[in-house]
Amino acid sequence: MKITILQGSARKKGNTARVAGWVEEELAAQGHEVDLVYLNSHNLNGCLGCAKCKEKPDTIGCVQKDDISEILEKMVNSKLVIFASPLYFWGVTSQIKTVIDRTYSLYTNYHQPGHASLIAGQRQALLVTGAGPYENNAEGVFTAFKRMQNPHMAVNAGELYIGLCTTPDNLDESAQHKAVEFAKEIVS
Ligand SMILES: Cc1cc2nc3c(=O)[nH]c(=O)nc-3n(C[C@H](O)[C@H](O)[C@H](O)COP(=O)(O)O)c2cc1C
Repeated sequence: MKITILQGSARKKGNTARVAGWVEEELAAQGHEVDLVYLNSHNLNGCLGCAKCKEKPDTIGCVQKDDISEILEKMVNSKLVIFASPLYFWGVTSQIKTVIDRTYSLYTNYHQPGHASLIAGQRQALLVTGAGPYENNAEGVFTAFKRMQNPHMAVNAGELYIGLCTTPDNLDESAQHKAVEFAKEIVS
């Protein structure tokens, strides 16, 4: 299966990169074609909300000439997309949020007859690391993620929160085990 991992932490060797790395390794070992995209090295602007993209529903059309087409094309061509992010102020990082907002161009007629999406049926998974516990901290990010599958017409393939993260070196075997189990779950 063709899989894209959107790595939304700026820290290339941080907690999220480490956990996403375990997921990538497991998926590759299973024979999947995995493409890990380090979003911070891309030039990505925020959505303008101009809705010009809605005028051409069959294309990934956006009036902004930045790197979003490359990312959205990878998404459209993937059976599974994994969004990986540290928890930043109870949400995802700006790098991931920017991509999510720009997926506005991938669907049309949400809540109306003729609702269609270029990523209909796609599996989507969310991986988050945070310094705090899940309770009273991480719930919101997973709630928002679940809602995103509605306009996308996508399938929620699974969610993983690794909390109480300190430094990548302190991520123990149990975190690795959870990452591997998550990787197995989201493709099955
Ligand atoms: C700007 C900022 C905001 C943060 N907000 C939260 C938060 O709301 N909840 C939490 O548990 N951790 C929060 N953290 C901690 C990070 O989510 C945590 O250390 C994460 O594992 C870092 O991942 P990374 O090493 O991939 O950057 C925040 C860290 C930063 C820098």
